[in-house]
Amino acid sequence: MTQAEFVVVANRLPVDRIADADPDDEEGWRRSPGGLVTALEPVMRKAEGAWVGWAGQADLELEPFDFEGTHLVPVNLSADDVENYYEGFSNDTIWPLYHDVIAAPRFRRQWWEAYVKVNQRFADAAADVAAVNAIVWVQDYQLQLVPRMLREARPDLTIGYFHHIPFPAYGLYSQLPWRRQVLEGLLGADVIGFQRVADAGNFARAVRRQLRYETKASGISVPDGRGGTRTALAKAFPISIDADSYIELAQRPDIQARALEIRESLGNPKKILLGVDRLDYTKGIRHRLKAFGELLEDGRVSVDDVTLVQVASPSRERVEAYIQLRDEIELTVGRINGDYDTMGHTAIRYLHQAYPREEMVALYLAADVMLVTALRDGMNLVAKEYVASRVDNRGVLVLSEFAGAADELGSAILVNPHDIDGLKDSVMRAINMPAGEQGRRMRALRRRVREHDVEDWSREFLDALAAFHDRTSAVTA
Ligand code: G6P
Repeated sequence: MTQAEFVVVANRLPVDRIADADPDDEEGWRRSPGGLVTALEPVMRKAEGAWVGWAGQADLELEPFDFEGTHLVPVNLSADDVENYYEGFSNDTIWPLYHDVIAAPRFRRQWWEAYVKVNQRFADAAADVAAVNAIVWVQDYQLQLVPRMLREARPDLTIGYFHHIPFPAYGLYSQLPWRRQVLEGLLGADVIGFQRVADAGNFARAVRRQLRYETKASGISVPDGRGGTRTALAKAFPISIDADSYIELAQRPDIQARALEIRESLGNPKKILLGVDRLDYTKGIRHRLKAFGELLEDGRVSVDDVTLVQVASPSRERVEAYIQLRDEIELTVGRINGDYDTMGHTAIRYLHQAYPREEMVALYLAADVMLVTALRDGMNLVAKEYVASRVDNRGVLVLSEFAGAADELGSAILVNPHDIDGLKDSVMRAINMPAGEQGRRMRALRRRVREHDVEDWSREFLDALAAFHDRTSAVTA
């Protein structure tokens, strides 16, 4: 049996099934396009690492297999597990609670039980594949109990956890009926990484209030089960993107030509506004549409001159809050277009689809203004992708101060998306921004994204974790 020195544990495997392929056929998979997968690929290859995760489909009984230098260990979920652990507890309890209850979280005991059971399954799979003294890196809110479960089974391991979404203020977090168990689960890790300094602060406060553990700077004293304590590190490691790959794509003549073609197909408006999101209530799509609809109504913009392209990729389509949101968005888009479209121009080009990276970069190049109006977002990588793609140093980023990216991208036009009048004024400011100011801001934004890309992110996290590894191996050696 394979034993790996480095193991990633995530809800999803880093591969997608090629449509209609036989799941047992190793050729039937392709690497997922996500940033995390790209970032970890070189690390995985060098360490001959293993990746424990779900293949994204219910009732698929898969055996471990190797894919492009990584050992993949599928965790199989039944239809009930998908309903209770993934759609239920992960995406109808934790997701809304951690995003400041924009939608109401539902606290169902049956979902919690499934979450515990499935987390244990991921922990068991990781414990089986990890070599003695291995490093294990657990990812995100679906697996908050795994660090502690792993530590109990395998005290020799060095365990990291990265939280990709916000960690809420204590007043909200304390609603969770299982608030102590979740904190204890996370504290099984040696290093607990967050997107923003504020997230790490919220976590430390919850630990002090609920568990009465001492915290000092980024260190938390955690009982070690033998009467002593060990120190866990909880701090911010803001995630980023693979900036070079966006720059390369943006320089390709065929992609630049495609950007012009997109402008053409929209009737060559003077300005194109763009929104790109998973169709999720955290993203502030409704607020964005409201502001744009009012600008048309007020006559401050006209469909002859300005078009909004909204890409809303399908997501979690069986969860009630997402079904409702889709209805509301599509009703609003239909109304606005019905009121303002002409034969030659549309107000909103709405696309409920996902696109390959090449097409996204063409869209970024075609867009004069990028609207990221999330009500709450761990980081928001779309903001960073837009900036990296603007090799021409043009374009304006309008960015919500409630997205983690706002901590780094201060040269964007920062907005409070709840303030519709403020949002409207910011959109107008972006539309009318002179080229010189666009250039100054875009250069500052691009510098930040290039200087801190996703490779820096994983290196910084893994370096922090390595300090714990050296300590543990010295004891067991
Ligand atoms: C967010 C989460 C990820 C998740 C992704 C897509 O970015 O932080 O953990 O994988 O959304 O959501 P899905 O439910 O399709 O995995």
